[in-house]
Parts: sequence; C-alpha cells; structure tokens
Amino acid sequence: MHLPDLEVAKKREKKENKYITLNEDIKKVFTNKKYFLRTYGCQMNVHDSEAIRSYLERLGLVNTSNIEEANVIVLNTCAIRENARDKVIGFLGKCHYLKKNRNDVKIVIAGCMSEQPDFVSLIKEKYSFVDIIIGTHNLYDLPKLLVQEFSKLEIEVYSESDEVLEGMQYERDSKYTAWINIMYGCDKFCTYCIVPYTRGRERSRKKEDILKEVMELKNKGYKEVTLLGQNVNAYGRDIGEKFSDLLESVAKTGIERIRFVTSHPWNFTDEMIDVIAKYKNIMPYIHLPIQSGSNEILRRMNRRYTKEEYIELFNKIKTKIPNATITTDIIVGFPNETREDFEETLDVVKTCEFDGAYTFIFSPREGTPASRMEDKVTLEEKEQRLYELNELVNYYANKSNQKLLNKEVEVLVLGKSEKDNAKVYGYTDTMKLVNIEGVNVKDTIGKIIKVKIKDAKSFSLDGEVVL
Ligand code: 5AD
Ligand code: SF4
Repeated sequence: MHLPDLEVAKKREKKENKYITLNEDIKKVFTNKKYFLRTYGCQMNVHDSEAIRSYLERLGLVNTSNIEEANVIVLNTCAIRENARDKVIGFLGKCHYLKKNRNDVKIVIAGCMSEQPDFVSLIKEKYSFVDIIIGTHNLYDLPKLLVQEFSKLEIEVYSESDEVLEGMQYERDSKYTAWINIMYGCDKFCTYCIVPYTRGRERSRKKEDILKEVMELKNKGYKEVTLLGQNVNAYGRDIGEKFSDLLESVAKTGIERIRFVTSHPWNFTDEMIDVIAKYKNIMPYIHLPIQSGSNEILRRMNRRYTKEEYIELFNKIKTKIPNATITTDIIVGFPNETREDFEETLDVVKTCEFDGAYTFIFSPREGTPASRMEDKVTLEEKEQRLYELNELVNYYANKSNQKLLNKEVEVLVLGKSEKDNAKVYGYTDTMKLVNIEGVNVKDTIGKIIKVKIKDAKSFSLDGEVVL
C-alpha cells in the first residue's frame, strides 16, 4: 500500500521523484518502538535532527529521553573539532554496553562524522556494533535503512552529494521560531575547515521553494525564521540568484522576524547591508566570523580578506545599521601562530568591541590543508591565548549588555526558563538572551513583548514585562 504521508525528500532537477513508500507490514515493525536522539554541533545539525525526528516519528517510533528503553539510538554527529569527535566516541562506549544486554537496539550514526572516511573506517574496525552510518547527503535514506535493519528486507540505498532536497518534513523543536535551509555545503575551503568535505559543494534552494516554506510557517503562526547556510552571502551563485534579493523577498512576506547565519566577510555586499537596514523585520544581528586579526594567518587560513578589509566592512555595517549587534568566531593557535599574530587578534577585538564571540583552539582535521602545516606552538601556549582572548571577549560582551540596562527591548518569548520555572526566556531583536519575570508571564510564550532590562551579565539579561 502506498502511504502518501511518507513521501518525502524529492530531488530537485531530477525527473524521477525520490519517494519513500512503506507498506503496512513494514509499519508494524516499528509499533511500540522508541528512539533516542542526541545532537552535536551547529544549527545545521540541529535542523537536520528535526528532519531525523520527522522520519522516525512517521515510521511510528516514539521519542524517549531514557536511552535504556530505546530501540533506535541516533547520534547526529559533528566533525568540526576533535572534542566533538571525542564526545561521540565516549557515547559509543555506553551504546556498546546497551547492545551487549539487548539485541533489539540499533545504533545509528548520522551527521558530519559519517562523511569522514577515516571515521567510517574507525567505526567499521573498532565499533562494529554500530548498525547504520548515514551521511549528511543521504539522510532521506534513514527510514529505508531502518526498515532493512529491523526486517531484513532488501531495499536499494542511494547516495549522491550534489543534490538539493525539496519537500523535506521537519518535526520542529519550536512552534515560534524555525530554521530554514537556504543552501547546503560550502565552497570557501578555509584551510582549517572540514565542512566543504562533509557537507559538499554549495547548492542553493530555489527562491520560490524557500518563500513557500516561509509562508507555510507564517500561516502556522511562526514568528521568526532563521535562514541557514554555511555562508549565506554565497546564496544563489549556482542558480543566478542573490542573497540580498532573497532577503528582501522574505522580508516582504511580512513574517515578523528574520535572521540569517552565517555571513562570510568576503562578498558581504552593500546591497545586503541596505536591505537589512531597510526592513524592520530583518533582525539587526550579524554573525560575522573574523577567525584571526593577523593578515598572515588570515592568508594561511584562505579567508580572502585582510584585517583592514574586515574592519572597513564592520564600520560600514555599524554606520548604516546603528543598532546592529555583531558577533564573531575566532580561532587561536592556528599552526605557527606567533605571539604577535595573536596580539593582532586581541587588537581587532578591542577595535570592534564585539557583542559576543565564539572562541576555539585550532583543531587539526584530517584531510584539510592546515592539518599538514608545521606547528611549533605548544598546547599550553594555545590554552593561555584562549584564556586571554576569552577574558577580553567577555569584557566586551558584558559592556554590550550593560548598555541595555533600564532600557525597554522587544523579546520573542520562547518558553519557560530552565533555571527558574516562574520565569520565561526569549531573545531580543539583537539575539540577546533575556530571562523575564512578571505577572502571568507564562501567557507571553510565543509572543513578542516589551521587556524592561533590570540586570545585565556577560551572557544573559534579566528583565520584567512592561505592561
Ligand atoms: N579548529 C578550530 N575551530 C574551527 N572552526 C572551524 N574549523 C575549526 C577547526 N579545525 C570554527 C570556526 C568556525 C566555527 C563554526 O568553528 O571559527 O567559524
Ligand atoms: Fe568552513 Fe570557511 Fe566554509 Fe565557514 S566559510 S564553512 S569556515 S570552509
């Protein structure tokens, strides 16, 4: 029997649609079965996990947070740094223990690590109890692979890395804010980065498909969408579109809040800045990774801009969008980074006074050019640099938050605070986290409300509902 609700993952630019068709017998296989899903890594992975959840639930599996009772354990993995990998390897130890005691549990490894040949070999050799390894390109094969695992039915497995999926279904984490993939992959090949290898070449979704998804979400009551890509300003280059045009079209749908991540400083056009400045529903929040303040390191990273060019862009954005919040990513301890190189990074942080920054110690990724570069800097030195950098970054993050003290800000309330159940939390237009208290504060969930800021810390704000 053909079940239309399982028709997903139609490939664009292919005559044949890729449908997953299951019959009732197969569906019975999953009755009373539960799944446990653990996600590591970036927003792209978080969003992929929403697709994984949708696949599993439409097969009939039920979510559980108790791994002991799960029949399917899915680890959606990240490969960006070694510690992400260590966490997965550690978790696999626990999975092995579970499998020893029960034979009805299947272990699935999805995500970026599954796209790394050395990792896949490691799993096959040392962790052969893993049942399914599924990459980022053929996620839609997960239902078929699971059916195969549980029922031993022969089904063809298909994988191709140059495609764009349409019609994907997501079991979204939130009812108010949603991720939307606008493109997949990255062509920038920064020398330290594994993403072009694990996520493949840049492929953009068609503008009309993206707008359709925005409208569907808006009609369902979503207040906010975040347009996702490894490098959103490269959107459309493969299909003759421009990110600034897409952003403008999304703004015209009238959805209340639009965000986009991540922007690359290279090719961040004036048109983009103008569109962001023009539309009130495009949030004045720009995540603009600089990675290093040293031109020599930037060159070796293949970042395609100099410190001066970055600062010029930064100032242009701040001039045209005065209320913009700009955050960044910084790597310390890139191979042979000198103390002088590092101090240039500190200088840029002082010049830009970033509202926030994610900071990392360089982690060599197998297969990337930087992993083969000579590196005489000791780990101790790298840790010292990270510590110094974090002190500075936190100082400016705190300074940025202090500016909001006693001010009224608009917050999209997303749910109850984890720490204090009497409070709710949400984000300002500039992506600052606010914990909010007030009379009947729980009724504000899912709404954009005015909040007066009462206290400001480095990583969050406390506020009160303005009546
Ligand atoms: N080592 C350390 N940090 C890295 N990033 C990417 N690759 C590496 C690596 N090999 C950081 C960059 C990027 C962020 C998502 O992760 O700063 O912007
Ligand atoms: Fe990695 Fe550079 Fe692409 Fe970002 S732009 S995903 S850091 S290769």
